[in-house]
Amino acid sequence: MRVAVFSTKRYDREFLTRANAAHRHELTFLEPRLTLDTTVLASGFPAVCAFVNDVLDQPVLSALAQQGTRAIALRSAGFNNVDLEAADLLGMTVVRVPAYSPHAVAEHTVGLILALNRHLPRAFNRVREGNFALDGLMGFDLHGKTAGIVGTGKIGTIVARILAGFGCRLLAHDPHPHEECLSLGATYLPLPDLLAQSDIVTLHTPLTPRTYHLIDRDAVAQMRRGAMLVNTSRGALLDTRAIINGLKSGQIGALGLDVYEEEEGLFFEDLSGRVLQDDVFARLLTFPNVLITGHQAFFTREALTAIAETTLANLSLIERGEPCPNVVTSARLVGS
Ligand code: NAI
Repeated sequence: MRVAVFSTKRYDREFLTRANAAHRHELTFLEPRLTLDTTVLASGFPAVCAFVNDVLDQPVLSALAQQGTRAIALRSAGFNNVDLEAADLLGMTVVRVPAYSPHAVAEHTVGLILALNRHLPRAFNRVREGNFALDGLMGFDLHGKTAGIVGTGKIGTIVARILAGFGCRLLAHDPHPHEECLSLGATYLPLPDLLAQSDIVTLHTPLTPRTYHLIDRDAVAQMRRGAMLVNTSRGALLDTRAIINGLKSGQIGALGLDVYEEEEGLFFEDLSGRVLQDDVFARLLTFPNVLITGHQAFFTREALTAIAETTLANLSLIERGEPCPNVVTSARLVGS
């Protein structure tokens, strides 16, 4: 199948090319992000392969459909960037990679918790400058602390397993309680109760209309004062302005992010020689108790291998007209 692969970096080309030996699709690697302006690059391609910050709203999908595209293969688990209703109406098939390495994201989440708690970036810089003073580096034992996990699907459950290993007390919030979390001793609570009791809150829900700004001003007020908040799921789960106010007042004690609600055009690019235009993001960078990584939680060899293999296998099934278990439709959103 001829596939226009958007938002490709060197590592995407490497892993997709290797996995394609078993599929023999005709892959055209394109560096630009998919937006209305770049849809023309996919003209005549029956399939488009896209990543998390590619725009797949109604106008883009409609333009792609008019140019002959019938399949969208997401190299991601999340599909919040796709207007699924529009895709359904246009008769386009959307496939994703539901699970590639939930361990990668869960382990990065715990990495953020540890680095924030023990001020590792600050300690690293101090030691390099010959400053071995400990003032300002004090953390807390994770053992015995309460961790609130919001969304206990594949990733949240692994986070629960790791934090249980540290000796944390586990609270959880999810409309569908997970058997393993229950067996780890997690107590499922309504969100306000989880927020009120947790020393660490970590988010692992998909971004849907229901979870948009899940942590807003009211939720910040419900948190235990000085608690740590971590988001490795999707940026818009947080109302960033409310979070900044929470940091300024000390209501939020520390913030770890791998995602940001306006990350499109920012993350995945080297902008080090440019002036940062996003004032909200710039404000976040000023806090000593904020640690941000640029959407790298998924970025392990194992995950990239699985993403490439599943993406190309999804496309092979579509090409052969066989049922694909990784199709997402607008019906998939009902109740999520
Ligand atoms: P999953 O589908 O296995 O689990 C999601 C869980 O969230 C489900 O148990 C679901 O019932 C729950 N949920 C849905 N709405 C909820 C709500 N309102 N409140 C509480 N729980 C709710 O998904 P998985 O694989 O664990 O991934 C979670 C998210 O992580 C993805 O949707 C994606 O946005 C994000 N992600 C981030 C990556 C990164 O590199 N930073 C990489 C991969 C995924």
